[in-house]
Amino acid sequence: MSEVVSYQLKENVGLIVVNSPPVNALSQSVREGILKALNQAQEDSSKAIVLRCDGRTFIAGADITEFGKPPQAPGLPEVLSVIENSNKPVIAAIHGTALGGGFEVSLACHYRCATPSAKVGLPEVKLGLLPGAGGTQRVPRLAGVKAALDMITGGNPIAAHKAKDMGLIDEVLTGEDLESSAIAYAHELHGAGAPLKRVRDVTIDPATVEAGFFDEARTRLAKRARGQIAQDRIVSCLEAAVNLPMDEGLARERELFGELVMSPESAAMRHIFFAERQAAKIKDLSEGTATRDIRKVAVIGGGTMGGGIAMCFAGVGIPVVMVEVDQEALDRGLGIIRKNYAITVQKGKLSENKMEQLIGMISGTTNYDDIADVDLVVEAVFEDLSLKKEIFAKMDSVCKSGAILATNTSYQDVDAIAAATNRPDDVVGMHFFSPANVMKLLEVVRGNQTADAALATAMAIGKKIGKVCALSGVCYGFIGNRMLSGYGREAQMLLLDGCTPARVDSALETFGMAMGPLAMGDLAGLDVGYKARQARTDLPDDSKLYRMGTLLVEMGRYGQKTASGFYKYDPETRRRKSDPEVESMIKTEAAKLGVEQREVEEDEILARCLYPLINEGAKILEEEIAQRPSDIDVVYVFGYAFPAAKGGPMFYADQVGLKNVYDRICEFRDRYGEQYWQPSPLLEQLAKEGKTFAQWDRERSMA
Ligand code: 3HC
Ligand code: NAI
Repeated sequence: MSEVVSYQLKENVGLIVVNSPPVNALSQSVREGILKALNQAQEDSSKAIVLRCDGRTFIAGADITEFGKPPQAPGLPEVLSVIENSNKPVIAAIHGTALGGGFEVSLACHYRCATPSAKVGLPEVKLGLLPGAGGTQRVPRLAGVKAALDMITGGNPIAAHKAKDMGLIDEVLTGEDLESSAIAYAHELHGAGAPLKRVRDVTIDPATVEAGFFDEARTRLAKRARGQIAQDRIVSCLEAAVNLPMDEGLARERELFGELVMSPESAAMRHIFFAERQAAKIKDLSEGTATRDIRKVAVIGGGTMGGGIAMCFAGVGIPVVMVEVDQEALDRGLGIIRKNYAITVQKGKLSENKMEQLIGMISGTTNYDDIADVDLVVEAVFEDLSLKKEIFAKMDSVCKSGAILATNTSYQDVDAIAAATNRPDDVVGMHFFSPANVMKLLEVVRGNQTADAALATAMAIGKKIGKVCALSGVCYGFIGNRMLSGYGREAQMLLLDGCTPARVDSALETFGMAMGPLAMGDLAGLDVGYKARQARTDLPDDSKLYRMGTLLVEMGRYGQKTASGFYKYDPETRRRKSDPEVESMIKTEAAKLGVEQREVEEDEILARCLYPLINEGAKILEEEIAQRPSDIDVVYVFGYAFPAAKGGPMFYADQVGLKNVYDRICEFRDRYGEQYWQPSPLLEQLAKEGKTFAQWDRERSMA
């Protein structure tokens, strides 16, 4: 038997055990091992066959590292066909997460049993793919077409009990031990003379699918596709499941899977899958660096960010104490948290009971002495360096030794904040994104003196509260906000050049950004950027710079909060509408400034907005503010809604070709001036060497 799959006869049951850490992915050796074991089981005296896994989970899917490489036999369809045609029942015994190809293996089995905590799912869509081993044909046969559509296009796992209700699994096991419970279940089935139940034998009655169902699904899914084609192809597979015999449906699925696996969208999303996991690793920190226990947390400041941050910790059962300046501010902060939970209850996504439990985890105080016993403090007061220093000095005087002192600052110098304490080694940046309880990204900022244990703890607690963590060094705006400044600047410059706000935003939204830069400015509040600019002394003296944003703020148009900014907003629906007044103001301003307006090509809009991200990203790599190009991609995809189907700005740059990016930046420099367009030396070097950021990173790690 292969090293990763074992087979033995136990209590008259053929027991196949997969043991291929970390997640029992279906690599070539696993496929081959299962096939051999199945063949052996056909010949021996076993009454039934149980397939289970060792380690943390049942098979978590195809081996993603094999995609894009030449296929190696046996293919998964061959293994599945042998399972399905077995002369004795094959029973999948699921624990952990049976995902993608893993769940498809179980669907080819005659029976599926699972532990109560197990989950099953088809997350392929999150990799720009569709289930390529029968998932699109078997799930609708078991759960119905509508449930299959939701499950496969959503990609989220389903808990065992719900999966049983949906018909996707047959039994939720109650015994403590998976193997013995599954063997007992096999005996029970054998005793009852259970048939070889093949999902392929179920027929779907086309009359159960409403007329126009697939067209409606395509239109609805296209609206949120953001450059992804997988959803559309999934609908085609489900259509095939309804209209074609099983084997033809499988062939159609195989064909469309083949198309997607070779698509740039899937390559980009697979890049993000691995980039996310890589970002959690700090290069110069050994794997075994001890982390500190975080059992209680304090959040200083109960405003927009503090409230969301408190909810993150409460959500994983860690008690939080919120500190505010006075009772009124505290009541307001706690009130907003309650309101946020209540909205979730209204939407049916949280029970009243659970809400009360979560609220019970968050207490409030106006007395700093009450945070003496916490293990972690996250400061989220106004963005004012002297205030933050004052608060860190206070934290230093009251917090117990070993407590981690974190700041959520967006722009301030973490080292200067740390210097306000006598324990700069315990100070770290934990930069959440708004709304903090929703947005996935957490930038963990390493100060000059941050201790390894403090850093490792910040990364670990970030993961625990469900964030995707990326490490940043100290600089103005860290990775994400620093890169953003050129993006926002050019979006406004393009207005003077002849674009309407809708034209700029729609170009970027077509590219896949969740929201264009100007609409995003309206959402965040144009006054925020205005105030930040007033505090800066390093901006070029150019009346074109942020001209429109500045004028709008001076007119009292702050964005969504005043129902007008670059757009007008319906106060009820918050839906945006172009505003002819703004469009004519732009023309007047351009004329005043002597800017000749012209028709700007979509391609230029994209380059003007996106290339500053890439150029600044390259500078961030040179300065070692980010560990790797893929960390920057993670920051942008999870913190700024950059389309995953484009893989993040640095991956996108590699696809466009760094020479093309560099040449275009030089062209803009010659046209608009060096104060805005200064190519990064790293970008220039790689462009000249004909390399990609990914290649540079690989070569650097090997050196
Ligand atoms: N292939 C290859 N490597 C994988 C993998 C896979 N399917 N799934 C996880 N890994 C690797 C990760 O890259 C990571 O490697 P590292 O330690 O070197 O960084 C390691 O396994 C552990 O992964 P996580 O850190 O994600 O572990 P967690 O315990 O947090 O999560 C999990 C486990 C829920 C299984 C999660 O890894 C996951 O969601 N995996 C992907 C599942 C998936 O997308 N399956 C579908 C694949 S496509 C497919 O099956 C096509 C088929 O239809 C033909
Ligand atoms: P906010 O203005 O909504 O809330 C700040 C809160 O701090 C107020 O409720 C105020 O009463 C409280 N506060 C002030 N002084 C205090 C003190 N001495 N002790 C206790 N509480 C005090 O501000 P917001 O937006 O929540 O920002 C907080 C921090 O988070 C800032 O550093 C900001 O840069 C950062 N940030 C903000 C993001 C955003 O989108 N709003 C995103 C990421 C970071």
